[in-house]
Amino acid sequence: MPKLVAITGATGFIGSVLIKKLIQDNWAVRALTRTARFSDDESIQWIVGDLNNLSALHRLVDSVPYVIHCAATVRGNTFQEFAQTNIEGTKNVLRAVSEQQQAPRFLLISSLAARQPELSWYARSKYLSEQVLTEQSEKLLWTIFRPTAVYGPGDKELKPLFQAMHRGLLPVVGKINNRFGLIHVHDLVAAIQVWLESEKAVQGIFELDDGISGGYSYQSLIALAQLLWNRPVRGVRIPNLLIRNVALANLWLARILRYSAMLTPGKVNELQHPDWVCDNTKIMNALPGWQPRILLRDVLSETLTT
Ligand SMILES: NC(=O)c1ccc[n+]([C@@H]2O[C@H](COP(=O)([O-])OP(=O)(O)OC[C@H]3O[C@@H](n4cnc5c(N)ncnc54)[C@H](OP(=O)(O)O)[C@@H]3O)[C@@H](O)[C@H]2O)c1
Repeated sequence: MPKLVAITGATGFIGSVLIKKLIQDNWAVRALTRTARFSDDESIQWIVGDLNNLSALHRLVDSVPYVIHCAATVRGNTFQEFAQTNIEGTKNVLRAVSEQQQAPRFLLISSLAARQPELSWYARSKYLSEQVLTEQSEKLLWTIFRPTAVYGPGDKELKPLFQAMHRGLLPVVGKINNRFGLIHVHDLVAAIQVWLESEKAVQGIFELDDGISGGYSYQSLIALAQLLWNRPVRGVRIPNLLIRNVALANLWLARILRYSAMLTPGKVNELQHPDWVCDNTKIMNALPGWQPRILLRDVLSETLTT
């Protein structure tokens, strides 16, 4: 009998890679979807509804031993929009969980951004969603993963940056030697699988990246691209005033034209932050079966087309 796991965010970049891998590994998946475009089969049951729909959330988590809460909004025009999905949505999932006779193990996919809640609406909402969960400590076995920027098949955020590098230009927001971690989506999914298989429940907040000591900088990305593709790549620094004005204009345009902005003043704060490097020691001690295996240098070329 396959083991059952409930997942939110299964239609997104990370969630869709996750459910594919879990189904391959013989898990039975119950997944939330906001659109009724998918059909069930023996390995996946879709529950139609969103994070505001308590009855859908009840059906999602009913009698499951594991819940992975991966849904979140990563773009928005006000703090309220982030809060509604990321904080209130997490509260709603936990409300549904709290009505179960047997509490499932609970994994929240947060973000390294939660380490710096002052930088942006997104970061603050992810930090506060963690708080909502950690307040449940007595009732629930919970784990929080804080991945750094994730790339791989299906990613729409980092891919354009890698493609620009391939064309010979890397836009630089902030200082050229600011540091950041990266992780391939398959390594993140592997960590989730080890969490699911772990006999012992692990409680805590865990950062994860690909294990490159000190992470990357724009400079090291340029060096890597030049080495791999054997052609010059130029870092083009976007002046602070320019990027801030563009972000502000984009935010106001988004409010007027009613689309969800990704480039906002808060996003610029995140991009300019000097240190987004993770330390994997804690997660590797807690989940000894996991270690990152994929390095950007080995897969950078394939990220351009997948
Ligand atoms: N990508 C990264 O680099 C990265 C880095 C660190 C942490 N994370 C975290 O990883 C998680 C997944 O990110 P992602 O990159 O896969 O994002 P994504 O592609 O934007 O997917 C977000 C998922 O959440 C769902 N969702 C959003 N609002 C919802 C709502 N109100 N009700 C129900 N479902 C809702 C989306 O459903 P629809 O398909 O219907 O829109 C989608 O399935 C997020 O928690 C994010 O904060 C991502």
